[in-house]
Amino acid sequence: MTKETTPVRLSDYRAPDYAIDTVSLDFSLAPTATQVTAQLAMRPNTPGAPLVLDGDEVKLIAISINEEYIPSSAYEATPQQLTIKAPPREPFTLEIVTEINPKANTKLMGLYLSNGNYCTQCEAEGFRRITYFLDRPDVLAVYTTRIEASKAAAPVLLSNGNRIDGGDIPGTTRHFAVWHDPFPKPSYLFAAVAGDLGLVEDSFTTMSGREVALHIYCEHGKEARCAYAMDALKRSMRWDETAFGREYDLDIFMIVAVSDFNMGAMENKGLNVFNDKYVLADPDIATDADYAGIETVIAHEYFHNWTGDRITCRDWFQLCLKEGLTVFRDQEFSSDERSRGVKRIADVRTLLARQFPEDAGPLAHPVRPEVYSEINNFYTATVYDKGAEVIRMLKAILGEDGFRAGMDLYFERHDGQAVTIEDFLASFADATGKDLSQFKLWYSQAGTPEVTAEGRYDARRQTYSLSLKQSIPPTPGQQTKSPMHIPVRFGLVGPNGADLAFTSATGGGVEDDVIHLTEAAQTIVFEGVSAPPVPSLLRGFSAPVKIATGLSQTDQLFLLRTDADAFNRWRASQQIAIQTLIAETAAVRSGAQSKLDPAFVDALAEVAEDDSLEPAFRAQILQLPGEADIAREIGHDVDPAAIAGARKRLMAMVASRIGKRLAELAERTGNVGDYSPDAASAGRRALANAALALTVGQAAPEAIGRVVARFESADNMTDRLAALSILASNGFEERIAALETFQDRYRDDPLGLDKWLMLEAVVPLETTLDRVKALTTHPAFSLTNPNRIRALIGGFAGSNQTQFNRPDGAGYDFFADFVLDLDKRNPQTAARLLVSFRSWKALEAGRRALAEKALRRIAASDSLSSDTRDIVTRTLA
Ligand code: TRP
Ligand code: ZN
Repeated sequence: MTKETTPVRLSDYRAPDYAIDTVSLDFSLAPTATQVTAQLAMRPNTPGAPLVLDGDEVKLIAISINEEYIPSSAYEATPQQLTIKAPPREPFTLEIVTEINPKANTKLMGLYLSNGNYCTQCEAEGFRRITYFLDRPDVLAVYTTRIEASKAAAPVLLSNGNRIDGGDIPGTTRHFAVWHDPFPKPSYLFAAVAGDLGLVEDSFTTMSGREVALHIYCEHGKEARCAYAMDALKRSMRWDETAFGREYDLDIFMIVAVSDFNMGAMENKGLNVFNDKYVLADPDIATDADYAGIETVIAHEYFHNWTGDRITCRDWFQLCLKEGLTVFRDQEFSSDERSRGVKRIADVRTLLARQFPEDAGPLAHPVRPEVYSEINNFYTATVYDKGAEVIRMLKAILGEDGFRAGMDLYFERHDGQAVTIEDFLASFADATGKDLSQFKLWYSQAGTPEVTAEGRYDARRQTYSLSLKQSIPPTPGQQTKSPMHIPVRFGLVGPNGADLAFTSATGGGVEDDVIHLTEAAQTIVFEGVSAPPVPSLLRGFSAPVKIATGLSQTDQLFLLRTDADAFNRWRASQQIAIQTLIAETAAVRSGAQSKLDPAFVDALAEVAEDDSLEPAFRAQILQLPGEADIAREIGHDVDPAAIAGARKRLMAMVASRIGKRLAELAERTGNVGDYSPDAASAGRRALANAALALTVGQAAPEAIGRVVARFESADNMTDRLAALSILASNGFEERIAALETFQDRYRDDPLGLDKWLMLEAVVPLETTLDRVKALTTHPAFSLTNPNRIRALIGGFAGSNQTQFNRPDGAGYDFFADFVLDLDKRNPQTAARLLVSFRSWKALEAGRRALAEKALRRIAASDSLSSDTRDIVTRTLA
């Protein structure tokens, strides 16, 4: 049966009727019947109000108030709710005993078993699956947790805070531990872990000289694979001190790696729980991208200690308060640790690939949503990644010092509180004296703003006038919008490639190198411009907008070769490639001759071979837009087969024109020596592998042979996977044997097998659908492990444009069946997968009808979870 979910609205927020000052939890662990005793020190804010506690699939065993059992007429209990009709008007102690079944918990929310180990996931609303509670982020309490379990099955017992007691329980085979967390926190940050786990230990001395123990727990035998995560953790701790003045606050910081996890990781106070793919690494199982991902996620969760834990959200509408800000912080950390320019390109790629389509489709929502029916579905690219862009713009507008002053004031004012976006912005307004009321629209207006630019040079007057216009497309529930404050970082590039000076600028609130676009239309007049410039706009992607510069291909090629801003050099290359590919797609569709222009291809080779540029940057230039990028830019009446055809033609031209040069480049950059995951060596590998990928477009046996040789001789996962990926994603025959070798090599390694499943799923051939279907019953696959599911099914629906979007609709049908089945076990993961349909309305009519049919079939099921119901309803609306 479908639970009827009433939408929750931001405007309906009410402070809780009761506060909970302390929570004392006692877990008696057993796989199918765990007993939880919760003692809550309750304080009425509204004396006499009924006390309504949240629950979810919990069984009530006993309930007492001030140590006296209360009659059953005094309360009402369902698995979803516990209501105490007339609680005491003075502070009181409420004790609740519940029973839960971790083994049957396939949703992976609340207390569950992963590989025989107990772990919890409470964000957003999982704590109510452990005990009845005021399960909302504005109820902050101090927790003491006692865990008792079989000593043999669970030698390790962990919870938040510091360990204050523990030992054997005499006369039994059980033992216990008691943990105390002195920092008040909401229930979503609670965690408990119990099991038989390996441990890696280290320590960190904070800036004020306190010694903090660092523990990483993992599956036995995998300890050596935790070294990089530990290193990233220590670097994160140091960086937060230097960059933000934030010091760690408990005596111990723990990370637990588990193999069954719905998302990336979770910032529980002092006890982060991680999807093991964001902890475990060695050169044989992890790629350079995996190492970078580990560094990012470790930092992200650690940084939440201040932005999320010490200061949390008043309600879930404020999610970007902690997520957007923490993503911004982890991006800045990685930029400082690696190459800032290359990191920015990588982050913008992600934003364009994930957030832009979301903002352009039926699931569009503001960075701070105003209504939801299932909060699990709002952990989105918009909240996280656009949320981070909003912080980045805030910094661009306030400047380095103003931004830091605002952050300092925010930490000082709100430590220990659950706050809102208004509170956050007020800290910046008060610290800098700036009016941020127009800027605040970024939080409430969905949709990607569209900016157009038109420039005119007057040689006689030596003036350059630049007209900028902005508009914001309608999104679900928002038809008309107001102009936003868009910071446009810019340069006027002169004929020799250097930025031209100007004596004054009027009409655009120009400060240094930033135009403040705040009106629907603005014309900026630059005086004293000595030569006709090519404008380089939105440098560093200073705002998450689409920009139409109207520049000719010649001007774009000029920027690609000369722009002082590396980001805009990359943008120019992508822009030219996209325009070329859009035109070529139209040609393929109408059966016309190829329209490809070799000038761009020659420029690519030139940049790739320029040794004065960072290899990692050159690798980014060589990574041509993928089929999904092209589809996104086309935006309507999308024909994935034609796009793939156009891309193939471009790849063929690249291979025939510059393939030899790129093969040589790959040869001379590819041998980096002994593997090390540092950014510089990773950059050289990336360049070599990107170059290699562009040599096979004519499917020449010699070129394919080179890739096979690279696969066979690789001594690390990065090169091995890069070569295998070239074979698989081009559908070459040679992939079959190589995939087999790869699978065999990693037969006992689930994280290695995920890579194999993913590559099987992206082969762009008609046979792939049957292959994917067959693999769902392969012993390496698992219908309960989210990583396996995301690799195979997520890989197919998300990264195989032609086969998911087969013209016969069989890709959609298989996918819909899979989601319907998965929804019964793990609704959160099912709903996330289903987001693969977010751009169905942009498809050409035939596929659109078939996608709609599959979606309607899902919607017609009368047993959907609230997660999947919400996504399917909004996707179809
Ligand atoms: N707060 C976590 C983060 O961003 C992510 C998260 C939210 C999560 N909900 C979750 C993780 C549910 C696992 C399961 O770091
Ligand atoms: Zn987060």
